[in-house]
Amino acid sequence: MRHRFHALCPYFAMFPETFAETWLDRLTRPGDVVLDPFCGRGTLPFQALLMGRRGIGCDVNPVAYCVTRAKTNAPALGLVERRLDFLEREYRARRYERSRRELPTFFRWTYRPETLRQVLHLRERLRWYDSNVDSMIAALALGALHGETNKSPCYLSNQMPHTISTKPAYSVRFWKERGYRPPRRDVFDLLRDRARYRYETPPPRTRGFALLADMRKLPRLARQIPGPVRCVITSPPYLNVTNFEEDQWLRLWFLGGPPHPTYRRVSKDDRHERSDGYWRLIADMWRSIGRVLADRAHVVIRLGAVREPPERLLEKLVGAALASSRRTRLAHHEVTELRRRQTRSFQPGAGGCKVEIDCHFVIG
Ligand SMILES: C[S@@+](CC[C@H](N)C(=O)[O-])C[C@H]1O[C@@H](n2cnc3c(N)ncnc32)[C@H](O)[C@@H]1O
Repeated sequence: MRHRFHALCPYFAMFPETFAETWLDRLTRPGDVVLDPFCGRGTLPFQALLMGRRGIGCDVNPVAYCVTRAKTNAPALGLVERRLDFLEREYRARRYERSRRELPTFFRWTYRPETLRQVLHLRERLRWYDSNVDSMIAALALGALHGETNKSPCYLSNQMPHTISTKPAYSVRFWKERGYRPPRRDVFDLLRDRARYRYETPPPRTRGFALLADMRKLPRLARQIPGPVRCVITSPPYLNVTNFEEDQWLRLWFLGGPPHPTYRRVSKDDRHERSDGYWRLIADMWRSIGRVLADRAHVVIRLGAVREPPERLLEKLVGAALASSRRTRLAHHEVTELRRRQTRSFQPGAGGCKVEIDCHFVIG
């Protein structure tokens, strides 16, 4: 059975676990340290733990950090249940009435008043940055915060996609036109239920490492890494495709952010529209990983773009590798033309990602 932690919380533009599994199997051995400097929902470090490797995930987005930390440092189910019971016992609806009323109209259309007060309680109380138990509860809440309520009882919100949070004005218009109302949900019951479901596949015994940081800081964070990195498997933001911060705005609010979409507050690299800025980001990635990679290490990169022809993507990626100050050799590459992607269905007019390349480099 597929491990149930993989789908703890969806993340836009994520790679499938089979991608991580195939390359880990091909290029690494048990005990090796593997790194994803743009880890998103943490598929690579988590899959690495499942395969007996030591997995490290780094990402600048708090949603990515929280989900990766939960997967790679999962506490026992009993601890999660006990903490949820405690949070429920200490919850006082009256305490959150004022903050509920002060939120923008969007929130009243998204959640029932009682659900929203409970969400506000968790938002205030969970120490997701420091505690393994709280990061697991926060990750479960992030996965339930919004989704296709009309089809599934697992979501807290009015009808929304589960992958991205739609914008406030658009969402309210959509619900008003269709007469959609938020569902009745008890947050504590729903999270207890979701936790039991996810833990039907037991968590890995070893722990991984989640870093909330710009990947440029990796060399300075090397002390938190358990040894030279034998393999990097990663997928940086694609060229001019999507903005993770905007896509995740409601989840970012839950983790303490403002109650509206933000741009370039979390990351200035999510969506480079111009190719010169984009290739500077990729060169910065090479510079950073070049300083933490072991000799004879491997680097696998999946990249995509809307308009660039694949030969140009390849040429630029190989050129950017010079910034690593290491001897790099392109061992293999593969191009995939994409017909229909998530990126297209949720961003009318955005065009979506048309081409992806996977490249395997060997470090000399
Ligand atoms: C294509 S996604 C990675 C998805 C991931 N492979 C998965 O399966 O979920 C790119 C990620 O890069 C992150 N990111 C953007 N700028 C960054 C930076 N400067 N340093 C680290 N992460 C960054 C985004 O937050 C996003 O999660």
